[in-house]
Amino acid sequence: MASPSKRLDLIPPYLFAELARIRADAVAAGADVIDLGIGDPDIPTPAAIREALATAVENPETHRYDESPRGWPRFLDSAAAWYERSFGVAIDPSRELLELIGSKEGLAHLAWAYLDRGDVAIVPDPGYPVYKVNALMAGADVYETPLTETNAYLPRLADIPTEVARRAKLFYLCYPHNPTGAVATSEFYADAVRFCRDHDILLVNDMAYATVTFDGFVNPTVLQIPGAKDVALEFHSLSKMFNMTGWRIAFALGNPDAVATLARLKSNLDSKQFGAIAEAAAVALDGVSNADSFAEYARRRDVLCDGLTAAGWPMDKPKAGFFVWTRVPVAGMDSKTFCAELMRRAHVLAVPGIGYGAHGEGYVRMSLTVKGDAAGDRIAEAVRRISTCGILG
Ligand SMILES: Cc1ncc(COP(=O)(O)O)c(C=O)c1O
Repeated sequence: MASPSKRLDLIPPYLFAELARIRADAVAAGADVIDLGIGDPDIPTPAAIREALATAVENPETHRYDESPRGWPRFLDSAAAWYERSFGVAIDPSRELLELIGSKEGLAHLAWAYLDRGDVAIVPDPGYPVYKVNALMAGADVYETPLTETNAYLPRLADIPTEVARRAKLFYLCYPHNPTGAVATSEFYADAVRFCRDHDILLVNDMAYATVTFDGFVNPTVLQIPGAKDVALEFHSLSKMFNMTGWRIAFALGNPDAVATLARLKSNLDSKQFGAIAEAAAVALDGVSNADSFAEYARRRDVLCDGLTAAGWPMDKPKAGFFVWTRVPVAGMDSKTFCAELMRRAHVLAVPGIGYGAHGEGYVRMSLTVKGDAAGDRIAEAVRRISTCGILG
Protein backbone atom coordinates (compact mmCIF):
# COMPACT_ATOMS: atom_id res chain seq x y z
CA MET A 1 0.00 0.00 0.00
CA ALA A 2 1.30 3.47 -0.86
CA SER A 3 2.17 5.59 2.15
CA PRO A 4 0.27 8.81 2.76
CA SER A 5 1.93 12.18 2.20
CA LYS A 6 4.20 13.34 5.02
CA ARG A 7 2.09 16.45 5.28
CA LEU A 8 -0.58 14.37 6.98
CA ASP A 9 1.86 13.85 9.87
CA LEU A 10 1.35 17.57 10.61
CA ILE A 11 -2.27 16.93 11.59
CA PRO A 12 -2.54 16.59 15.37
CA PRO A 13 -4.96 14.01 16.78
CA TYR A 14 -8.44 15.48 16.31
CA LEU A 15 -9.52 16.61 19.74
CA PHE A 16 -13.15 15.74 19.23
CA ALA A 17 -12.24 12.20 18.14
CA GLU A 18 -10.50 11.69 21.49
CA LEU A 19 -13.47 13.17 23.34
CA ALA A 20 -15.84 10.97 21.33
CA ARG A 21 -13.87 7.91 22.51
CA ILE A 22 -14.08 8.96 26.17
CA ARG A 23 -17.79 9.61 25.71
CA ALA A 24 -18.36 6.27 23.94
CA ASP A 25 -16.59 4.39 26.76
CA ALA A 26 -18.84 6.06 29.35
CA VAL A 27 -21.98 5.36 27.32
CA ALA A 28 -20.92 1.73 26.81
CA ALA A 29 -20.60 1.46 30.59
CA GLY A 30 -24.23 2.60 30.87
CA ALA A 31 -23.69 6.28 31.77
CA ASP A 32 -26.16 9.00 30.75
CA VAL A 33 -23.62 11.46 29.33
CA ILE A 34 -24.45 15.16 28.98
CA ASP A 35 -22.39 16.33 26.02
CA LEU A 36 -21.23 19.95 26.30
CA GLY A 37 -18.46 19.22 23.79
CA ILE A 38 -18.92 20.12 20.14
CA GLY A 39 -20.83 23.28 19.15
CA ASP A 40 -23.53 22.03 16.82
CA PRO A 41 -27.10 23.36 16.98
CA ASP A 42 -29.43 20.74 18.45
CA ILE A 43 -32.50 22.73 17.33
CA PRO A 44 -33.70 21.85 13.80
CA THR A 45 -33.23 24.16 10.81
CA PRO A 46 -36.22 26.57 10.69
CA ALA A 47 -39.22 25.15 8.77
CA ALA A 48 -39.24 27.93 6.15
CA ILE A 49 -35.72 26.94 5.05
CA ARG A 50 -36.56 23.23 4.92
CA GLU A 51 -39.64 24.04 2.84
CA ALA A 52 -37.56 26.22 0.49
CA LEU A 53 -35.22 23.27 -0.05
CA ALA A 54 -38.13 20.94 -0.84
CA THR A 55 -39.39 23.41 -3.45
CA ALA A 56 -35.94 24.02 -4.94
CA VAL A 57 -35.27 20.30 -5.33
CA GLU A 58 -38.22 20.14 -7.76
CA ASN A 59 -36.52 22.65 -10.06
CA PRO A 60 -34.41 20.66 -12.58
CA GLU A 61 -32.05 23.64 -12.96
CA THR A 62 -30.70 22.77 -9.52
CA HIS A 63 -29.84 19.21 -10.59
CA ARG A 64 -26.90 20.22 -12.75
CA TYR A 65 -23.42 21.64 -12.16
CA ASP A 66 -23.52 25.23 -11.00
CA GLU A 67 -21.32 26.72 -13.72
CA SER A 68 -21.45 30.27 -12.42
CA PRO A 69 -18.05 31.79 -11.64
CA ARG A 70 -18.60 32.60 -7.94
CA GLY A 71 -21.68 30.65 -6.85
CA TRP A 72 -25.45 30.39 -7.27
CA PRO A 73 -26.39 33.96 -8.36
CA ARG A 74 -29.54 34.21 -6.22
CA PHE A 75 -27.53 33.12 -3.18
CA LEU A 76 -24.82 35.71 -3.82
CA ASP A 77 -27.44 38.48 -4.25
CA SER A 78 -29.14 37.48 -1.00
CA ALA A 79 -25.81 37.30 0.86
CA ALA A 80 -24.85 40.80 -0.33
CA ALA A 81 -28.26 42.21 0.63
CA TRP A 82 -28.11 40.46 4.05
CA TYR A 83 -24.66 41.87 4.74
CA GLU A 84 -25.67 45.41 3.84
CA ARG A 85 -28.86 45.16 5.95
CA SER A 86 -27.02 43.65 8.92
CA PHE A 87 -23.77 45.61 8.91
CA GLY A 88 -24.31 48.63 6.64
CA VAL A 89 -21.61 47.74 4.10
CA ALA A 90 -22.41 47.45 0.38
CA ILE A 91 -20.93 44.42 -1.40
CA ASP A 92 -20.68 43.80 -5.14
CA PRO A 93 -21.86 40.18 -5.51
CA SER A 94 -20.09 39.77 -8.85
CA ARG A 95 -16.60 40.69 -7.56
CA GLU A 96 -16.57 40.69 -3.78
CA LEU A 97 -18.41 37.49 -2.85
CA LEU A 98 -17.72 33.76 -3.12
CA GLU A 99 -19.97 30.85 -2.20
CA LEU A 100 -18.33 28.17 -0.04
CA ILE A 101 -19.16 24.61 0.94
CA GLY A 102 -19.09 25.63 4.60
CA SER A 103 -16.66 28.18 6.02
CA LYS A 104 -14.24 25.47 7.20
CA GLU A 105 -13.70 24.58 3.56
CA GLY A 106 -12.99 28.19 2.61
CA LEU A 107 -10.76 28.98 5.58
CA ALA A 108 -8.72 25.84 4.93
CA HIS A 109 -8.36 26.35 1.19
CA LEU A 110 -7.36 29.98 1.63
CA ALA A 111 -4.12 28.73 3.20
CA TRP A 112 -3.51 26.55 0.13
CA ALA A 113 -4.26 29.47 -2.19
CA TYR A 114 -1.80 31.85 -0.50
CA LEU A 115 0.95 30.11 1.40
CA ASP A 116 4.31 28.72 0.28
CA ARG A 117 7.32 27.47 2.18
CA GLY A 118 8.93 30.40 4.02
CA ASP A 119 5.66 32.28 4.40
CA VAL A 120 3.99 32.80 7.76
CA ALA A 121 0.35 32.57 8.83
CA ILE A 122 -0.51 34.39 12.06
CA VAL A 123 -3.15 32.42 13.94
CA PRO A 124 -4.87 32.91 17.30
CA ASP A 125 -3.91 30.81 20.34
CA PRO A 126 -6.33 29.57 21.59
CA GLY A 127 -8.14 29.24 18.29
CA TYR A 128 -10.09 27.09 15.85
CA PRO A 129 -7.44 24.51 14.80
CA VAL A 130 -8.27 24.59 11.06
CA TYR A 131 -6.23 27.76 10.38
CA LYS A 132 -3.01 26.37 11.83
CA VAL A 133 -3.23 22.84 10.45
CA ASN A 134 -3.84 23.98 6.87
CA ALA A 135 -1.13 26.63 6.99
CA LEU A 136 1.33 23.95 8.15
CA MET A 137 0.19 21.45 5.52
CA ALA A 138 0.63 24.15 2.86
CA GLY A 139 4.28 24.32 3.96
CA ALA A 140 4.19 27.66 5.78
CA ASP A 141 5.33 28.53 9.29
CA VAL A 142 2.79 29.51 11.89
CA TYR A 143 3.04 32.30 14.44
CA GLU A 144 0.57 31.80 17.24
CA THR A 145 -0.50 35.10 18.70
CA PRO A 146 -1.52 34.67 22.36
CA LEU A 147 -5.07 35.61 23.28
CA THR A 148 -5.24 36.23 27.00
CA GLU A 149 -7.97 37.05 29.45
CA THR A 150 -6.13 40.23 30.49
CA ASN A 151 -6.22 41.48 26.88
CA ALA A 152 -9.90 40.54 26.39
CA TYR A 153 -8.73 37.75 24.06
CA LEU A 154 -7.61 40.26 21.40
CA PRO A 155 -4.09 39.84 19.90
CA ARG A 156 -1.52 42.44 20.97
CA LEU A 157 -0.41 43.64 17.55
CA ALA A 158 2.60 45.49 18.95
CA ASP A 159 3.98 42.19 20.30
CA ILE A 160 4.15 40.54 16.87
CA PRO A 161 7.84 40.51 15.90
CA THR A 162 8.71 42.63 12.84
CA GLU A 163 10.37 39.62 11.18
CA VAL A 164 7.12 37.65 11.55
CA ALA A 165 5.04 40.51 10.18
CA ARG A 166 7.42 40.84 7.24
CA ARG A 167 7.03 37.17 6.27
CA ALA A 168 3.33 36.91 7.10
CA LYS A 169 0.79 36.62 4.29
CA LEU A 170 -2.35 35.69 6.25
CA PHE A 171 -3.57 36.89 9.66
CA TYR A 172 -6.51 34.83 10.89
CA LEU A 173 -8.92 36.42 13.35
CA CYS A 174 -12.22 35.07 14.67
CA TYR A 175 -14.90 37.11 16.46
CA PRO A 176 -17.20 36.21 18.11
CA HIS A 177 -14.39 33.91 19.14
CA ASN A 178 -14.31 30.15 19.36
CA PRO A 179 -13.40 28.95 21.98
CA THR A 180 -13.44 31.94 24.36
CA GLY A 181 -16.70 33.65 23.35
CA ALA A 182 -14.85 36.98 23.21
CA VAL A 183 -16.09 39.70 20.86
CA ALA A 184 -14.18 42.30 18.87
CA THR A 185 -14.32 46.08 18.92
CA SER A 186 -14.25 48.47 15.97
CA GLU A 187 -11.10 50.06 17.45
CA PHE A 188 -9.34 46.71 17.38
CA TYR A 189 -10.45 46.03 13.82
CA ALA A 190 -9.18 49.47 12.76
CA ASP A 191 -5.77 48.68 14.30
CA ALA A 192 -5.73 45.25 12.63
CA VAL A 193 -6.53 46.78 9.22
CA ARG A 194 -3.69 49.29 9.68
CA PHE A 195 -1.29 46.52 10.74
CA CYS A 196 -2.17 44.38 7.72
CA ARG A 197 -1.93 47.32 5.35
CA ASP A 198 1.50 48.27 6.73
CA HIS A 199 2.80 44.73 6.31
CA ASP A 200 0.96 43.67 3.15
CA ILE A 201 -0.97 40.88 4.88
CA LEU A 202 -4.41 39.53 4.02
CA LEU A 203 -6.62 39.90 7.10
CA VAL A 204 -8.93 36.90 7.40
CA ASN A 205 -11.90 37.44 9.69
CA ASP A 206 -13.83 34.30 10.57
CA MET A 207 -17.34 35.31 11.65
CA ALA A 208 -18.99 31.88 11.88
CA TYR A 209 -20.88 33.13 14.97
CA ALA A 210 -21.68 36.60 13.60
CA THR A 211 -25.36 36.58 14.48
CA VAL A 212 -25.28 34.27 17.50
CA THR A 213 -25.32 37.13 19.99
CA PHE A 214 -27.17 37.79 23.23
CA ASP A 215 -28.81 40.68 25.06
CA GLY A 216 -28.99 42.81 21.88
CA PHE A 217 -25.23 42.79 21.30
CA VAL A 218 -24.08 43.27 17.68
CA ASN A 219 -20.52 42.21 16.87
CA PRO A 220 -18.85 44.78 14.59
CA THR A 221 -17.29 43.54 11.33
CA VAL A 222 -13.91 44.29 9.87
CA LEU A 223 -15.39 45.45 6.56
CA GLN A 224 -17.05 48.33 8.42
CA ILE A 225 -13.61 49.89 8.79
CA PRO A 226 -12.96 52.39 5.97
CA GLY A 227 -10.50 50.89 3.46
CA ALA A 228 -10.81 47.37 4.91
CA LYS A 229 -11.73 45.91 1.54
CA ASP A 230 -8.14 46.67 0.46
CA VAL A 231 -6.77 44.12 2.90
CA ALA A 232 -9.53 41.93 4.33
CA LEU A 233 -11.61 38.87 3.52
CA GLU A 234 -14.42 37.95 5.88
CA PHE A 235 -16.04 34.52 6.26
CA HIS A 236 -19.71 34.01 7.15
CA SER A 237 -21.58 30.77 7.48
CA LEU A 238 -25.21 29.69 7.59
CA SER A 239 -24.24 26.77 9.87
CA LYS A 240 -24.72 28.46 13.24
CA MET A 241 -26.80 31.38 11.99
CA PHE A 242 -29.66 29.12 10.85
CA ASN A 243 -28.92 25.71 12.47
CA MET A 244 -27.61 24.42 9.13
CA THR A 245 -24.29 22.76 10.01
CA GLY A 246 -25.05 19.67 7.92
CA TRP A 247 -26.09 21.64 4.85
CA ARG A 248 -22.56 22.96 4.17
CA ILE A 249 -23.05 26.46 2.87
CA ALA A 250 -21.20 29.68 3.64
CA PHE A 251 -19.59 32.63 1.88
CA ALA A 252 -16.49 34.80 1.85
CA LEU A 253 -16.64 38.49 1.07
CA GLY A 254 -14.36 41.47 0.83
CA ASN A 255 -11.18 42.07 -1.16
CA PRO A 256 -11.90 41.24 -4.84
CA ASP A 257 -8.39 39.89 -5.52
CA ALA A 258 -8.65 37.52 -2.55
CA VAL A 259 -12.09 36.40 -3.72
CA ALA A 260 -10.69 35.73 -7.22
CA THR A 261 -7.66 33.89 -5.82
CA LEU A 262 -9.72 31.56 -3.66
CA ALA A 263 -12.21 31.03 -6.52
CA ARG A 264 -9.32 30.07 -8.82
CA LEU A 265 -8.11 27.37 -6.44
CA LYS A 266 -11.61 26.10 -5.76
CA SER A 267 -12.45 25.84 -9.46
CA ASN A 268 -9.94 22.97 -9.49
CA LEU A 269 -11.16 21.36 -6.28
CA ASP A 270 -14.94 21.35 -6.19
CA SER A 271 -17.91 22.09 -8.37
CA LYS A 272 -19.85 24.17 -5.85
CA GLN A 273 -22.70 23.32 -3.53
CA PHE A 274 -25.98 21.74 -4.69
CA GLY A 275 -28.04 24.57 -6.22
CA ALA A 276 -31.14 23.64 -4.19
CA ILE A 277 -29.19 24.16 -0.96
CA ALA A 278 -27.92 27.51 -2.23
CA GLU A 279 -31.50 28.45 -3.17
CA ALA A 280 -32.82 27.55 0.30
CA ALA A 281 -29.90 29.41 1.89
CA ALA A 282 -30.91 32.50 -0.13
CA VAL A 283 -34.41 32.26 1.34
CA ALA A 284 -32.86 32.05 4.82
CA LEU A 285 -30.75 35.15 4.27
CA ASP A 286 -33.71 37.03 2.79
CA GLY A 287 -35.36 37.13 6.19
CA VAL A 288 -35.93 33.88 8.10
CA SER A 289 -35.61 34.50 11.83
CA ASN A 290 -33.69 32.13 14.08
CA ALA A 291 -34.24 34.31 17.15
CA ASP A 292 -35.96 31.49 19.07
CA SER A 293 -32.80 29.39 18.94
CA PHE A 294 -30.63 32.26 20.16
CA ALA A 295 -33.09 32.95 22.99
CA GLU A 296 -32.81 29.28 23.98
CA TYR A 297 -28.98 29.46 24.03
CA ALA A 298 -29.22 32.59 26.19
CA ARG A 299 -31.54 30.77 28.60
CA ARG A 300 -29.12 27.83 28.81
CA ARG A 301 -26.17 30.22 29.27
CA ASP A 302 -27.91 31.79 32.25
CA VAL A 303 -28.77 28.41 33.79
CA LEU A 304 -25.16 27.20 33.37
CA CYS A 305 -23.30 30.35 34.43
CA ASP A 306 -25.62 31.33 37.30
CA GLY A 307 -25.85 27.74 38.55
CA LEU A 308 -22.13 26.98 38.54
CA THR A 309 -21.16 30.41 39.89
CA ALA A 310 -23.55 29.81 42.80
CA ALA A 311 -21.94 26.39 43.31
CA GLY A 312 -18.49 27.99 43.70
CA TRP A 313 -17.19 27.86 40.10
CA PRO A 314 -17.34 31.52 39.00
CA MET A 315 -17.71 32.28 35.30
CA ASP A 316 -18.59 35.20 33.04
CA LYS A 317 -21.52 35.07 30.64
CA PRO A 318 -20.50 35.33 26.97
CA LYS A 319 -22.12 38.05 24.84
CA ALA A 320 -21.99 35.86 21.76
CA GLY A 321 -21.31 32.42 20.34
CA PHE A 322 -22.05 28.94 21.61
CA PHE A 323 -19.46 28.69 24.32
CA VAL A 324 -18.83 29.36 27.97
CA TRP A 325 -15.07 29.60 28.57
CA THR A 326 -13.85 29.56 32.10
CA ARG A 327 -10.91 28.68 34.32
CA VAL A 328 -10.36 25.13 35.57
CA PRO A 329 -11.79 25.42 39.09
CA VAL A 330 -9.37 22.99 40.77
CA ALA A 331 -6.01 24.48 41.78
CA GLY A 332 -3.05 22.76 40.15
CA MET A 333 -5.14 20.55 37.85
CA ASP A 334 -4.59 20.81 34.08
CA SER A 335 -7.53 21.13 31.71
CA LYS A 336 -7.33 17.58 30.28
CA THR A 337 -7.21 15.96 33.71
CA PHE A 338 -10.09 18.13 34.89
CA CYS A 339 -12.30 17.21 31.91
CA ALA A 340 -11.51 13.50 32.32
CA GLU A 341 -12.38 13.76 36.02
CA LEU A 342 -15.59 15.65 35.22
CA MET A 343 -16.61 12.86 32.88
CA ARG A 344 -15.75 10.17 35.44
CA ARG A 345 -17.59 11.81 38.33
CA ALA A 346 -20.49 13.69 36.67
CA HIS A 347 -20.74 12.13 33.19
CA VAL A 348 -20.55 15.64 31.75
CA LEU A 349 -18.37 16.19 28.69
CA ALA A 350 -16.50 19.53 28.54
CA VAL A 351 -13.54 20.40 26.29
CA PRO A 352 -10.06 21.02 27.74
CA GLY A 353 -8.74 24.45 26.72
CA ILE A 354 -5.35 22.96 25.76
CA GLY A 355 -7.09 21.47 22.71
CA TYR A 356 -7.21 24.98 21.23
CA GLY A 357 -3.57 25.92 21.83
CA ALA A 358 -1.02 26.34 24.62
CA HIS A 359 -2.70 29.51 25.89
CA GLY A 360 -5.93 27.58 26.33
CA GLU A 361 -4.34 25.59 29.16
CA GLY A 362 -6.01 26.27 32.50
CA TYR A 363 -9.42 26.77 30.85
CA VAL A 364 -12.45 24.68 29.94
CA ARG A 365 -15.00 25.19 27.16
CA MET A 366 -18.64 24.19 27.59
CA SER A 367 -21.07 24.36 24.69
CA LEU A 368 -24.62 25.71 24.91
CA THR A 369 -25.73 23.32 22.18
CA VAL A 370 -26.69 20.07 23.86
CA LYS A 371 -27.73 16.99 21.94
CA GLY A 372 -31.01 15.50 23.17
CA ASP A 373 -32.22 18.57 25.05
CA ALA A 374 -35.83 18.31 23.84
CA ALA A 375 -37.19 19.01 27.34
CA GLY A 376 -34.74 21.87 27.88
CA ASP A 377 -33.44 20.47 31.17
CA ARG A 378 -30.05 18.96 30.31
CA ILE A 379 -28.02 22.02 31.29
CA ALA A 380 -29.78 22.26 34.65
CA GLU A 381 -29.05 18.57 35.14
CA ALA A 382 -25.37 19.17 34.24
CA VAL A 383 -25.21 21.97 36.81
CA ARG A 384 -26.77 19.70 39.44
CA ARG A 385 -24.29 16.90 38.74
CA ILE A 386 -21.21 19.15 38.63
CA SER A 387 -22.28 20.88 41.86
CA THR A 388 -22.82 17.64 43.76
CA CYS A 389 -20.12 15.28 42.38
CA GLY A 390 -17.46 16.66 44.70
CA ILE A 391 -15.14 18.04 42.00
CA LEU A 392 -15.62 21.64 43.16
CA GLY A 393 -14.34 20.66 46.62
C1 LIG B 1 -14.66 29.44 14.57
C2 LIG B 1 -15.26 28.56 13.55
N1 LIG B 1 -15.07 28.85 12.26
C3 LIG B 1 -15.58 28.07 11.29
C4 LIG B 1 -16.30 26.95 11.59
C5 LIG B 1 -16.81 26.10 10.46
O1 LIG B 1 -18.15 26.22 10.24
P1 LIG B 1 -18.83 25.71 8.90
O2 LIG B 1 -17.78 24.99 8.11
O3 LIG B 1 -19.91 24.79 9.32
O4 LIG B 1 -19.31 26.94 8.18
C6 LIG B 1 -16.53 26.60 12.92
C7 LIG B 1 -17.28 25.38 13.26
O5 LIG B 1 -17.33 24.90 14.34
C8 LIG B 1 -15.99 27.43 13.93
O6 LIG B 1 -16.16 27.15 15.22
